Amino acid sequence: MLSMELRGVTKQYKQKKAVDDFSLKLEEGVYGLLGANGAGKTTLLRMLCNILKPTSGIVLCNGMEIDEMDGEYRRILGYLPQQFGYYPNMTAERYLRYLAELKAVPPGLIDSKIEELLELVELSEMRKKKIKTFSGGMIRRLGIAQAMLNDPEILILDEPTAGLDPKERIRFRNLISGFSKNRIVLLSTHIVSDVEYIADRILLMKQGKLIGQGNLEEIVEQVEGHVWTCMVDAQTAEEYNRKYAVSNLKNQGEKVELRIVASQKPVEDAVSVEPGLEDVYLYYFEQETEE
Ligand SMILES: Nc1ncnc2c1ncn2[C@@H]1O[C@H](COP(=O)(O)OP(=O)(O)OP(=O)(O)O)[C@@H](O)[C@H]1O
Ligand SMILES: [Mg+2]
Repeated sequence: MLSMELRGVTKQYKQKKAVDDFSLKLEEGVYGLLGANGAGKTTLLRMLCNILKPTSGIVLCNGMEIDEMDGEYRRILGYLPQQFGYYPNMTAERYLRYLAELKAVPPGLIDSKIEELLELVELSEMRKKKIKTFSGGMIRRLGIAQAMLNDPEILILDEPTAGLDPKERIRFRNLISGFSKNRIVLLSTHIVSDVEYIADRILLMKQGKLIGQGNLEEIVEQVEGHVWTCMVDAQTAEEYNRKYAVSNLKNQGEKVELRIVASQKPVEDAVSVEPGLEDVYLYYFEQETEE
């Protein structure tokens, strides 16, 4: 069975420890790496792809250090960088062909692979158009296609849904669900709904550390009893918005209905409600404002 493992992986930039003693085992399935801006997601993914060397710790694939696998690791890896480079004057088809050659896709398979991937990311009609005429969402989809050119067993996507509209997001989810069988797919995002629907396991990352992991149910369970709703007047609503992590705010006539994430009951008449992943996100990543 396919496996990846990070053992005590740390990345120290000059001033900043971007990834801090990160240990994790990945087996087949879809993993959603969720964390706020600057949490260290990109740094972690780049180390997983062997683009960046850890300051300490090791990364293993099927029990072998990736650093020692050399070409073999690249052959089974697909990667979409957060900022992926492309040639604006190339057509979509030309660009994919260029990368397929770089990735040593067997020449006899290149045409059919490109055909299949353009279809999959719904860019077939744009195949002869220059990339500079593409929308942000189209470029992102082209990026997803290039990451899949070598039919990778390990697919790492850094914010694959950035810039996609809601329809494109749904299509992306379906595409990944279909693709992920017998593979490892790891995607980073700060969009809760991306991982809510497709990730088998959710990884919560904060300040370089893995602070929680589990399936959706297990993750959501962690904030059970910490999510409340209450009705308050507008002035109190404003005060609470500063004081607590407020995950929703709805005007109801004179009053305001608040959804609050807090360890303690915020007001006497607050009612405890079922948590969702968005509440978890707030609980872990925006609770700093709470006293
Ligand atoms: N080359 C670098 N040199 C110095 N510091 C860096 C470098 N790259 C990243 N950092 C810092 O490391 C931390 C983690 O950055 P990283 O890009 O990994 O976070 P991220 O979770 O991907 O954020 P985002 O959601 O914004 O993409 C940040 O504080 C960032 O400023
Ligand atoms: Mg990033």
